[in-house]
Amino acid sequence: MDKILVHGGNSLAGSIKISGSKNSALPILAATLLTREPCTIHRVPDLSDTHYMLQILTHLGAQVERASGIVTVTADKVQSVAPYEVVRKMRASVGVLGPLLGRCKEATVSLPGGCVIGDRPIDLHLRGFEALGAAVRVESGNVKVFVPKLVGAVINLRGKFGPTVLGTDNVMMAAVLAEGTTVIEGAAQEPEVCDLADFLNKMGAKIEGAGTRRIIIEGVSELHGAEHDIIPDRIEAGTFLVAGAIAGSGVTVNRVEPNHLTAITNALSGCGFKIEAKKQSITVSPNGAPKPLEITTEPYPGFPTDMQAQMCALLSTTDGISVITENIFPQRYMHVAELKRMGAQVQMEGATAVIQGVEHLTGAPVMASDLRASAALVLAGLKADGITEVSRVYHIDRGYEHLDEKLSELGAHIERVKA
Ligand code: EPZ
Repeated sequence: MDKILVHGGNSLAGSIKISGSKNSALPILAATLLTREPCTIHRVPDLSDTHYMLQILTHLGAQVERASGIVTVTADKVQSVAPYEVVRKMRASVGVLGPLLGRCKEATVSLPGGCVIGDRPIDLHLRGFEALGAAVRVESGNVKVFVPKLVGAVINLRGKFGPTVLGTDNVMMAAVLAEGTTVIEGAAQEPEVCDLADFLNKMGAKIEGAGTRRIIIEGVSELHGAEHDIIPDRIEAGTFLVAGAIAGSGVTVNRVEPNHLTAITNALSGCGFKIEAKKQSITVSPNGAPKPLEITTEPYPGFPTDMQAQMCALLSTTDGISVITENIFPQRYMHVAELKRMGAQVQMEGATAVIQGVEHLTGAPVMASDLRASAALVLAGLKADGITEVSRVYHIDRGYEHLDEKLSELGAHIERVKA
């Protein structure tokens, strides 16, 4: 297992090109199962999670061709069973349930299981499938869905933690081939849901309202092939902006959609950093002493839970007392214990982290646990005294395309070593 060594103290400057969105690519790749015709997807990021999804599609019978960031999927013949050995690697694999139900009227997918950021239930997904007429059974670790005919329905997908992103995706992908109209109330509004809806409409679906709490889907009899460019990854972009805030003298992220990052740029402005947004780029620059902040994670367009760990790293070295409340995944604080090993002063109170900023963190051996927590530890190492050794970096490779190389391009002293 590789390790990343971060030699703290370098100042970051320059610009970096942001990759296509992981959380858009995964459901869009799953959606290619809905047609026999070839679909070509551009800007698919080179990540272990996208590789896992392509393995699953291949296992289900699709032909997959990949040339750098361009992926063509032809799901001419499809079988509807995704077994544990392929699904266990990535919980987003549940995203094939909806397209398999739409295409094959049945699906058997291993239950994803939990992960370090918390129990990852799919009850809302299953509620949506049942509303469309499906029978749902959970047995010996698999979820089985079957429906003689999908019939449109009015479905509320909001759970106690708010909307569900993949649940909205899944139900939308099942409903596009249902008979009649489906209304999803309490839908997730994330840009990645909109990107999926755009792709489905290019395939011949009739979806309106994506990006609002209410999505209306007019069922059609079949879908055809389509070509699509994945939107830029707003969380990767946010991660580099926080790197620029922690240790930068002016860092620009290129090929982004600034309006997808307003909650993140507002937070950085609230810390006192200078933010300059242009059509497809954002620059963060120091602007005096950073200020402490209070943040609460919320569904889009609120502050994203996927940026919570990165902000913890920044606020750990921001003078004063900051408070972060995690409303989406209340247990998503695996990074805190590791940051404390580097000298951060964080007091946990339930799902709230009270952070007393310190002058300096000190480099230390730390362990990555989940995708965003791992990135946060690398960011903290940028400014720490000495060397921070981040192990289990396979977590990072799941969701960041060459994070260490991109940080090196900005001037970080960072190396990846074989452990
Ligand atoms: C997506 O996960 C993202 N993953 C996550 O990003 C992101 O953190 C999350 O949305 C929230 O924005 C992908 O898109 C592949 P949810 P998803 O269903 O869809 C509860 C990353 O780092 N819930 O929106 O699985 C759930 O427990 C990853 O890139 C139910 O109760 O998340 C959570 O508390 C991590 N029942 C809340 O809803 C359900 O059936 C939001 O979860 C489904 C979810």
